[in-house]
Amino acid sequence: MLVTGGAGFIGSNIVDLLIEKNYEVCVIDSLIHGKRSNINPKAKFYEVDIRDKKVIEVFDEYRPDFVVHNAAQISVSNSVKDPVNDADINIMGTINILEAAKKCNVKKIIYPASAAIFGEPVYLPIDEKHPLDMISGYGVSKHTVEHYLKVYKSLNNIDYVSLRYSNVYGPRQDSSGEGGVVAIFCEKMLNDESPFIYGDGEQIRDFVFVEDVAKANLLAIESNANGIMNICTNNKVTVNDLFETIRNVLGKDIKATYTSEREGDIKNSYMTYKKAKDSLGWQPETTIEEGLRKTIEYYKGIKQDNNN
Ligand SMILES: NC(=O)c1ccc[n+]([C@@H]2O[C@H](COP(=O)([O-])OP(=O)(O)OC[C@H]3O[C@@H](n4cnc5c(N)ncnc54)[C@H](O)[C@@H]3O)[C@@H](O)[C@H]2O)c1
Repeated sequence: MLVTGGAGFIGSNIVDLLIEKNYEVCVIDSLIHGKRSNINPKAKFYEVDIRDKKVIEVFDEYRPDFVVHNAAQISVSNSVKDPVNDADINIMGTINILEAAKKCNVKKIIYPASAAIFGEPVYLPIDEKHPLDMISGYGVSKHTVEHYLKVYKSLNNIDYVSLRYSNVYGPRQDSSGEGGVVAIFCEKMLNDESPFIYGDGEQIRDFVFVEDVAKANLLAIESNANGIMNICTNNKVTVNDLFETIRNVLGKDIKATYTSEREGDIKNSYMTYKKAKDSLGWQPETTIEEGLRKTIEYYKGIKQDNNN
């Protein structure tokens, strides 16, 4: 089993689950955003850029049957500032991985796509047939790979599952810069700071816990399923709900700072996982309260480590 981006937030959680299930795992990561400390010590690690020619040497040496391809440039705003870099990593880097997979007879690739490809929803909940309306280079690059996966399936018979995640949250998510809202709220509130809420906070999001996402990857590997499916909860959680729940779990009397809406922010978005349930037998198992408790425990641990 080879996992690219296995030092990152989602990738490292997938690696941990695979190792727990006794798979032999090899990680490729350039560490540009991921952390060495996230990498499971039982995984074999190659510090390699997915665009590098060395990728084929790693595949040749390791001969994986399955590839979970997580490595990516993940910042929407960076994709707008520097679309060439975004396409270089997310499209050209992925083709490099696909070529190595072809040469080494990989059986199946699991790929994380994103709700960023839907733009402003025209109906809810979003299903796999929902029209696409990319509004950033990131959305375009994440979706372009879905076309390549289909082409490699038809030309080279490499199976694939593209998992379109809603908003993933949980331990190891980066809270710096434009990291996930959950990570930012947790870190701010643990430091007794007031987090910003853009607009009135009534915008609806679909937050899926990273351990559930890791299970979807495992089921995609172990099933005969092929194609594209949403990984989400279909739960409607507002940003205000999220803030309240984190505040209650922390037991802190902090007020949010409301500020103007961000241009381009989508008002409401949630997705249905019916296809993943039918094809993989997957459904989210973690409630938002449980997921937030586990996430807060993680950030508390980090804060304690930093203080020691
Ligand atoms: N976080 C979400 O809510 C979400 C939603 C939808 C899709 N995704 C996708 O899931 C995947 C993982 O995202 P994440 O949130 O864990 O991000 P992350 O930044 O924590 O993980 C990405 C990893 O890829 C590595 N990487 C980046 N460029 C690389 C390169 N050129 N060569 C080798 N390694 C490289 C980084 O060092 C990092 O460890 C990405 O493909 C992302 O597009 C994430």
